[in-house]
Amino acid sequence: MPDRRSFLQSALAVVGATQVPAATGAPPLAPATPAAPPRPVHLNINGRDYSLSLEPRVTLLDALREHIGLAGTKKGCDRGQCGACTVLVDGRRINACLTLAVMHEGQRITTIEGLAQDGKLSPMQQAFLEQDAFQCGYCTPGQICSATALLEEVRADGAGFTDEEIRERMSGNICRCGAYPNIVAAIRQVALRRS
Ligand code: FES
Ligand code: FES
Repeated sequence: MPDRRSFLQSALAVVGATQVPAATGAPPLAPATPAAPPRPVHLNINGRDYSLSLEPRVTLLDALREHIGLAGTKKGCDRGQCGACTVLVDGRRINACLTLAVMHEGQRITTIEGLAQDGKLSPMQQAFLEQDAFQCGYCTPGQICSATALLEEVRADGAGFTDEEIRERMSGNICRCGAYPNIVAAIRQVALRRS
């Protein structure tokens, strides 16, 4: 008849024996891929040339915020779902979190810091102020960059500046504060003043 101590020892041995295959049956971890070394990257941002040394995997968003210090472009989701990181590349809006900095050499990058000219707010920035088109302001740089590009997109497509059209084309820019009616009003104001 086994005593209590030997019974527990044998029971633990059984448990240990049954756990080993489960642990070793897990898929092996993939070996870590070494990062590619930094390389020279030349970017033109807001009319100014920057020479950087970046790993090829660095996103345009991280290059702007962490390597250049242009923190006006915001990081929300970092996966293309919120629009907070919207910047202009050759006049077209893109999500800076979804693209690599090395892909934009030779292009003209404009961030929220580059929209004002000679100390004067751009018409879209001014309209956002006049229409109270923000609350916390976190989404606002992306909203304004997106709205700036939208003006030319709508004209190029021959579409009208209806509220529905504006809402649809701004749907990639999320505002957690729900300032959408004022954002639409700001865009409409700039569009109507231009036409
Ligand atoms: S941070 Fe780029 S889309 Fe959200
Ligand atoms: S103003 Fe706060 S998220 Fe848009």
